[in-house]
Amino acid sequence: MLRPMRVLGIETSCDDTAAAIVEHRPDGPVLRSSVVAAQGIHTEFGGVVPELASRAHLELLPGVVEQALGEAGLTFADVDGIAVTRAPGLLGALLVGVCYAKALARALDRPFVGVNHIEAHLLAPLLEGVALELPAVGAVVSGGHCEIFVVHAIGRYSIVGTTRDDAIGEAFDKVAKLLGLGFPGGPPIDRLAAAGDPERFALPRGLAGSGDFDLSYSGLKTAVRRLLDATPLPRDERFTADLCASFQAAAVDGLLAKLAAAARAHGARSLVVGGGVACNSRLGDGLAAMGERMGIPAYRPGPRLCADNAAMIALVGGLRLGRGERDGFDLEPVPGLDDSGLVVTANG
Ligand code: KG4
Ligand code: ZN
Repeated sequence: MLRPMRVLGIETSCDDTAAAIVEHRPDGPVLRSSVVAAQGIHTEFGGVVPELASRAHLELLPGVVEQALGEAGLTFADVDGIAVTRAPGLLGALLVGVCYAKALARALDRPFVGVNHIEAHLLAPLLEGVALELPAVGAVVSGGHCEIFVVHAIGRYSIVGTTRDDAIGEAFDKVAKLLGLGFPGGPPIDRLAAAGDPERFALPRGLAGSGDFDLSYSGLKTAVRRLLDATPLPRDERFTADLCASFQAAAVDGLLAKLAAAARAHGARSLVVGGGVACNSRLGDGLAAMGERMGIPAYRPGPRLCADNAAMIALVGGLRLGRGERDGFDLEPVPGLDDSGLVVTANG
């Protein structure tokens, strides 16, 4: 049997410094290790500070890579190829990972490829042994992303819907800030919502009747702010739980409705979600129910593969390396979504 190809993945697009080893075997990819160092430094600012993120990547990345190798029981000499996130993300943050990957590729004399982070979120279920029946319709939902895609084939994607203002994770983070729940806001809202009444407050589901697959979250966020302004202090626990539940229902159900509509319109044979917001419990339950209703599989990877990680980067990089693709030392990071040429914005 051919020796498996061991790919080191590197992810530095936002505020997580991550490295992972994926072994690409003839019968499928196997995750050997995945290390994510969250940069706690941003908590006190209530959001990611780009310059601080770049500096923290610079400090953390060498140790994170060594840890990923150590946990896989490997050394640098065992690495057959290197995959690094090249788009989209914060430019300075991406630069740290891309420069590191190039230097390592040169030192080890191994091939390297740049990977599109969004493609990696969409294909992450492959690391759980899933085949991803195509075409798939998927949502990538995080603090920076809120898009609906059709996966026509591995390497060919269309964006069919996008937010017209805030990303859904940004809405969770802003509402949590208004409620004094800290950053990131998704996990505490999800937790408090479990004990709340999602129907107590009627909140807008952005662009519900727009007839396309676009989303909007700024109106929802403003409605929550107005409600808080109109509610005298002190607010009791029941109020906060009900507000969290009502906000979460509006945010998540609005997304699920658009995902279902896109899936029907594009003849989806499977559904997939990725990104930090995909960890949300209501989203998970709603997605599973949608899959059952439509009679197609619905994939939501485990929380460690939904949130930012380098395993998904090593996965997609390995698929590209396996096809004989290589990038040169002139590879540049790209902050935007489309420039990698992987994601086509038309419906084709
Ligand atoms: O993908 P991710 O780790 O990083 C990027 O933003 O790229 O996603 C982080 C986002 C944050 O906005 C956070 O509040 C949100 O995901 N999040 C959640 C949950 N867990 C994380 N949102 C809703 N419910 C959750 N359980
Ligand atoms: Zn992400």
